[in-house]
Amino acid sequence: MENILNLKSEILAQITSAADLKTLDEVRVSAMGKKGKLTELMKNLGSLPLEEKIALGKSLNIIKNEIEQAIESQKNILEAKALDEKLKKETIDVTLPIRPETQGRIHPITKIYEEIEAIFGQMGFDVVNGPDIEDQFHNFNALNMPANHPARQMQDTFYINNDPTMPFDMDSAYVVRTHTSGIQIRTMEKQQPPIRIIATGRTYRSDYDATHTPMFHQVEGLVIDKNITMAHLKGCLYDFMKAFFELEDLPVRYRPSYFPFTEPSAELDIGCLKSKDELKIGAGTDWLEVLGCGMVHPNVLRAGGINPDEYQGFAFGMGVDRLAMLKYGIPDLRTFFESDVRWMKHYGFAPLDFSSMTGGLSDNGGLTR
Ligand code: DAH
Repeated sequence: MENILNLKSEILAQITSAADLKTLDEVRVSAMGKKGKLTELMKNLGSLPLEEKIALGKSLNIIKNEIEQAIESQKNILEAKALDEKLKKETIDVTLPIRPETQGRIHPITKIYEEIEAIFGQMGFDVVNGPDIEDQFHNFNALNMPANHPARQMQDTFYINNDPTMPFDMDSAYVVRTHTSGIQIRTMEKQQPPIRIIATGRTYRSDYDATHTPMFHQVEGLVIDKNITMAHLKGCLYDFMKAFFELEDLPVRYRPSYFPFTEPSAELDIGCLKSKDELKIGAGTDWLEVLGCGMVHPNVLRAGGINPDEYQGFAFGMGVDRLAMLKYGIPDLRTFFESDVRWMKHYGFAPLDFSSMTGGLSDNGGLTR
């Protein structure tokens, strides 16, 4: 009997010190499993004299019940503890924002380029690029601006010495391109008509105020084929302007102008309302110049290796920064390039809000914002 009582307190101690459900089950098996200590004792009862058998059997039954209850209550404690731990691990802080706030922003210039590419892309234009550092042939000469041409002085050009070990030599100097028009020539050199491209990129001039920065952005357009007329130019750019400003009844006008690389040349104005502190596009009786264009000069076609008796074309060039300022009401161009995170937060665009003609140019219906 004493052994039995010792065994009981040993088992009970094991039960209460079992730290998890697995250990508790091991204790149960070692006490009451097929080969458990208590089970063995029960089995041995048969060999005892009757009276002892009855007395011991009774005690063993009581002990067995006690142990079963102890196991049950320890099991409850351990289960509650396990649940508690699980819940603690799965805690959700309901005061957190729904999802992490998007940090990055798309710069308005990138956004405008996306919009322009979406519109011209749908009209069937390819997007091409050219080098920022350009030779004078592509930047000037081939565009009908020979060395003595006065238009060369119109653009305050940054020159780069061809050979830094030698004194500056104007004739062989490179330039950082003053416009994207040189890509017209590079395209013609590579490809015979039909040509239908826009060229995007950075351009550089020595100029600095609220609407001019030494580095700025342009889009160039070039269409060459047989029988291309000024009517194609007008229709194409009119459609572009309406799509870009997202105004179906945007007033536009073509005003005669001069560029060495086009003949005839024009500038495109859009209708607007100018007041002291506001500019409203598409309303009022004022006009705002937004791009230069014209029919490609025969000399330019020749310089690009295209026969002007067989092919004609039109070209246009526009300032992307200016378009961004107009479309998104940004007053000072210099702020575009100051890398101020607060400015980007205010004027920038959500990274996934990309422009498309079907999903929306400047607004995709709030899909990502
Ligand atoms: N290259 C001109 C500029 O930077 C813009 C321009 C005007 C481009 C007329 C053209 C064009 O292709 O036809 O001021």
